[in-house]
Amino acid sequence: MNYFENKKILLIICGGISAYKSLELIRLFKKNGARVKTILTKNAKEFVTPLSVSSLSQEKVYDDIFGAENEAEMDHISLSRWADAVLVAPITANTISKVASGNAEDLASTVLLASNKQIFLAPAMNVRMWEHPSTKENILKLKSFGYKIIGPEIGDMACGEYGEGKMTEPNEIVNTLKNYFSNLDKNKKLKALVTAGPTNEYIDPVRFITNKSSGKQGYEIAKCLRDNGFDTTLISGKTSIKPLDGVNFVSVETAEEMFKESLNNLPTDVAIFSAAVSDFKVKNYKSTKIKKNEEFNLELEKNIDILNHISNHNSLRPKITIGFAAETNNLSTNAKEKLNEKNCDWVIANDVSDQTIGFGSDFNKISIFYKDKPEENFEKMSKSLVAEEIVKRIIQQIN
Ligand code: CTP
Repeated sequence: MNYFENKKILLIICGGISAYKSLELIRLFKKNGARVKTILTKNAKEFVTPLSVSSLSQEKVYDDIFGAENEAEMDHISLSRWADAVLVAPITANTISKVASGNAEDLASTVLLASNKQIFLAPAMNVRMWEHPSTKENILKLKSFGYKIIGPEIGDMACGEYGEGKMTEPNEIVNTLKNYFSNLDKNKKLKALVTAGPTNEYIDPVRFITNKSSGKQGYEIAKCLRDNGFDTTLISGKTSIKPLDGVNFVSVETAEEMFKESLNNLPTDVAIFSAAVSDFKVKNYKSTKIKKNEEFNLELEKNIDILNHISNHNSLRPKITIGFAAETNNLSTNAKEKLNEKNCDWVIANDVSDQTIGFGSDFNKISIFYKDKPEENFEKMSKSLVAEEIVKRIIQQIN
C-alpha cells in the first residue's frame, strides 16, 4: 500500500555516522509513494554525498554551499511550505541546541525556524551527550514547541560506548510518520469544539465580573486538535491570546453568548469545556453607567451551565464530552462529583491554589478522571504538553 501517496516530506540530514541510514529512509518513503526533498548540512556531507541522496530521492538536494542558487530556485520559506511534514534524521546535539534557541545560521536551521508544518526529530549522538542536562533541557523545550521526538534507542554506538543515543531504525521512523498521516486523514472527518478563557458578566456598560482564566490551556488544546487534523472550533472569552490560524474562532464575552455559540456548533464529535464560565450573572444589569452617588446593590442569579446542558442534551451530546475542574481543595472528590453531575466522559482537574500552575501560568499539573476507568495523575508540565497528552487520549478513544 502507498502509505505516503501524494505526501511531500522534507528530510534534513545532519552530520553523524547514522546519516547513512537516511538513505534507507529516503528509499522507504519513496517506495511508499512519497516525494522527498532533502537538505544536507555542511557536516552531513562528510557522511553522505549529495549524489547518493539525489539518486535515491530523484529530487534536487539543497545545501549551504550553493546557497544563492538554492534560494533562487526554492527559498527557505517555499521549502518549508512545500512539505507536508519535516523530518530531521539524524539530528545532532548541536543542531538540537541551535533549533531550541531559534538560531538560523544555515539553510537547515532557517527552514526549521520558518516551518509551519509538523516537525519530527530523530536524534543520534553519544550517550553522554544525550544525557547531558543541556540536551535534556533543549529536548523538553522543543517538545513544548510541538516538535515530535523519535527515539533515540539504546544500543552499541559507533564510538564504542553503549547506551541511549542510537538513531531509531528507518522503518520505525517511517512508521511514526505513517501513523501521523493516517491519524490526520482519519481526524479530518472529526469535529472538535473547545471553550476557553473567562466570561465577562456585565454590571453596567463599563463594569463586569470576570475571573483569572488566561485561556492558555484551552488554546493549546485547540491548537493540538488542529495539528492532529480535527476540524476545530474555539469559542473563547476575552483573552490576550491571538486567534489561532486554521481554527474556527468565535469570540464571546458573556456566558450566555458562549452558550449560544456552543449550541450553534453542535453536533460535534469531541467537546472540551475548558472555559472558566462565571457561575453567576448580574440580575439587575443597569444599561447606563452607575454613578458613585447612586445607591446600587448588586444582585446575582445563576448562569446556565453550558457543559451540563450539552452533556445532558441526548440527541446532540458529543461522543466525547470533557469538563474541567479548577479546584483549590478536595480535588479528587470534587472532580468525581463533577464527572457524575455533569455527565462527562472525563473531567480534567487541576489545583488552582498552586501559583506555579493553572491560571495564567504556562504550566499545569492535571489529573484525568474517567467515567469508565481509574484516574490518571500527571507530572507538572507545559500547557502545550498537557494538551498533547489530552489529545493523544482523545484520538485513542475516538478511533
Ligand atoms: N462550566 C460551564 N458552564 C458554566 C459553569 C461551568 O460549561 N456555567 C464548565 C466549565 O467549563 C468546566 C466545568 O463546567 O468544564 C466545571 O466548572 P467549575 O466552574 O469548575 O465547576 P462548577 O460546576 O461551577 O462548580 P463549583 O463552582 O462548585 O466548583
